[in-house]
Amino acid sequence: MNRKERMEQQRQQERLEEVRDALRKRELLEPGISMPGMSRRTFMHKSLMFAGGVAGLSTANLWLPIINTFDMAFASENAEGGINNFRFAWISDTHLYPEDVNTRFVEKAKRAVDEINALDPPVDFVVMGGDLAQLGDPVELRLGKEIMDELEVDVYYIPGEHDWYLDMGETFVDLFGESPWTFDHKGVRFIGLDTISRAPDYWSVTNMSPEERMGHMAGLDNSVTGPWAGLGRSQRDWLESTLNDWDRDDPVVIFSHNPLYEYYPPWNFWVRDWRETLEILRPFNNVTDFHGHTHQVLYNEIDNIRLIGMLATAWPWPYAPEGVPPMTRPMTRVDPGDHFDGLGWDLMTFQDNRVEHEYMMWRRRDHIFANRPEDNAVTKNPSIKLQPRVADRMWTGRYRGTD
Ligand SMILES: [Fe+2]
Ligand SMILES: [Fe+2]
Repeated sequence: MNRKERMEQQRQQERLEEVRDALRKRELLEPGISMPGMSRRTFMHKSLMFAGGVAGLSTANLWLPIINTFDMAFASENAEGGINNFRFAWISDTHLYPEDVNTRFVEKAKRAVDEINALDPPVDFVVMGGDLAQLGDPVELRLGKEIMDELEVDVYYIPGEHDWYLDMGETFVDLFGESPWTFDHKGVRFIGLDTISRAPDYWSVTNMSPEERMGHMAGLDNSVTGPWAGLGRSQRDWLESTLNDWDRDDPVVIFSHNPLYEYYPPWNFWVRDWRETLEILRPFNNVTDFHGHTHQVLYNEIDNIRLIGMLATAWPWPYAPEGVPPMTRPMTRVDPGDHFDGLGWDLMTFQDNRVEHEYMMWRRRDHIFANRPEDNAVTKNPSIKLQPRVADRMWTGRYRGTD
């Protein structure tokens, strides 16, 4: 090993120690702050690392975890009398370009991986929630695999639209396998969905090139792609059958790239068949959907199903102009001059029949939540207004190729 390599190794070791130290010292500062309108089984509290405000530490602004805690009765003891407590992590929306085009996004994805590897005790597994790549380029997807392969535990992948529409998922499936999938872990049924591959065919009639097809899909507010997010009938049938043998009181955790409700259709923050999908989940008493795509702190409950938006590592999206679901305590605007601000990854801890979901958010330490009631539109808009895009209101039939 030459001197440069030794220095690099030492630097990495120091970084790892720094991360471990910060994780060890993470303590709750304000447990149990109630959210307006939040159901009795859920409350959110915010916490600060270094409770008491220890100043002058270089790692002091690594994270501000924001925590959703909810009851989730799960088998905390297994048949052999051992304890089933565990945790897992989520990374999504890394939006990687080729490294020579954009190093910022690469740096942030690597940071999330380093921090997850430094957890002690370690997580049981990691979920990559889609939008690993920015423009579906095989170079981007392979770079993503290279970065995610550094994780020391199993990684489960679901696709995002940015991973898919250049080659219609060929490289993604080749590298990461098919979705949907399911597995049981310590008394919890985990299900990964594909909410992105069943877009209406908006490209054939217009003779779009693969790059044009991908380019339209990559826009937030585009009117060309139609209501592209959806499970489709075949996947809904699969979901129903995969839950057939599951006890209605046992926990179900769903991973979807898009939110499984109608948050803001004009930006495709929804899936078009969310009602039918929630109907399948409704008989189960303990369902949580963790989703990516919205790149922001977001919380909603529909009937007995809770739906939680996860952080991105690449950039934060603004909130929908109509406001956020009343149960969400919105995050404040991030610092536009700091490309780590408002971003990060998520950690879920299953312990003693409770689940803690933590936003492992980088940089922010104060003023993380908007505090005025009108900030989430609750005062003016007690139930979130449904705003289907204009095309949907005029649409009377099915798009070609959708089910
Ligand atoms: Fe995204
Ligand atoms: Fe997305």
